[in-house]
Amino acid sequence: MILLRCQGCGKKVSVPAAGAAPVLCPQSGNGRDHVLLPELPLPSLRGDEKESQPLLRFADRMLAFHRCAAAGHPEIYQEIVRTLDARITALTGQSFACTPLVRSDSLSQYFGLDSRGGVWLKDDTQRPGGSHKGRHLFGTMVELLVGESLSSSHPSAVQKPLAIASCGNAALAAAVIARAAERPLLVFIPADAEPSVVLRLRELQAEITVCHRREGESGDPCYLRFLESVRAGAVPFCCQGTDNGLTIEGGQTLLAEALCELEAAARTPSRIVVQVGGGALASACSLAIETALSTGLLSSRPRFYTAQTTAVAPLHRAYQRLRTELGDALDSFTEQDWYQVAAEKHRYMWPWERVSASAAHGILDDETYDWLALVKAMARSGGRPLVIPEETILAGNALAKDATGIAVSATGSAGLAGLLHLHKEEPLQPDENVLCLFTGVMR
Ligand SMILES: Cc1ncc(COP(=O)(O)O)c(C=O)c1O
Ligand SMILES: [Zn+2]
Repeated sequence: MILLRCQGCGKKVSVPAAGAAPVLCPQSGNGRDHVLLPELPLPSLRGDEKESQPLLRFADRMLAFHRCAAAGHPEIYQEIVRTLDARITALTGQSFACTPLVRSDSLSQYFGLDSRGGVWLKDDTQRPGGSHKGRHLFGTMVELLVGESLSSSHPSAVQKPLAIASCGNAALAAAVIARAAERPLLVFIPADAEPSVVLRLRELQAEITVCHRREGESGDPCYLRFLESVRAGAVPFCCQGTDNGLTIEGGQTLLAEALCELEAAARTPSRIVVQVGGGALASACSLAIETALSTGLLSSRPRFYTAQTTAVAPLHRAYQRLRTELGDALDSFTEQDWYQVAAEKHRYMWPWERVSASAAHGILDDETYDWLALVKAMARSGGRPLVIPEETILAGNALAKDATGIAVSATGSAGLAGLLHLHKEEPLQPDENVLCLFTGVMR
């Protein structure tokens, strides 16, 4: 029997042989933190290197694949992934193929790195929907389709609308994938969403609700309306692990690919800097690192840094509070200790009171929903949260575009801006290999 384990309270839940997999911990809603992730056997070291589709290459990290295999039909998984990808390619002209990892010679030089070291960039900008977000949601959709396919009841009898809250990239990726799968999608967006994004969402037939801040309500109104729709029966088709743990699974392929390529180049990453909004991306990266340590692909943990802007930095606030209370003890916390932290969520993580503007508008989430995985990743690796001033966000984006020619957005290059910031405080050693992710295209 396949089990899911809540990372926030330790509760174990079994996955049914067919039908929808549980996405929420049965104890969620009690004010503490809950993220339900599958407990799967140790995957292969580098995945199936013949496959260029991430969910086929890293199939053995996906619950959906193991459910199909347990039912004696691994081919169902393959078929669903291939069909969905083909439909998305027909719809957008872009596919979900693995993306390149490159050593930027000019950035490496800029940071004073010699030939033993380098700045390595994972370019995830040229994907359907224009960002890495589809990695999370493609995985979530495959989970849904596999559950239905294994079930004897007719899919139309179990179809519910999908729902997502987002200001841009996640909504676009969700709309592309939902359209390709012919599913109705509810999208909750802010009043200041980019007109070009709204137009594309309409073209993709998403049902849009524009959400305004309400007097006396704390937190992102789009997220609050999304939660209401889920309570009313919609499927959380989202990029928050706290509302659908399976979103983390597909997201891990980004760093899984990058770590395999670094290993092939005989490099060991010393640090990774990840831009953080709601935190699902960095949580997925942390999962890929833990898996690489378990399989032996990595022999040591890279220092894990997160990058938020001075406009909204609830993760930094949470981390500072934990450090002040617990000091160095945090570095060697056990799972049980972390369950205690999750139980006390309200003392560390709550919505940022005054959200101001930034060019990196994709990471202005009021709350870092997946904060728990990130504080764990930083504490156990010797990394820390970086809070990037706006001028460094802009400088990082200009540097990214000049040095690489990649049309990356300020959100997408915020990790590189984080590296700029870090380098001022802690200069990199010449032989270090550091990893940054370019996650979104400049529109
Ligand atoms: C391009 C891009 N990069 C990174 C992020 C951050 O991802 P997360 O919200 O999972 O932390 C976002 C979120 O919207 C994004 O759009
Ligand atoms: Zn739980």
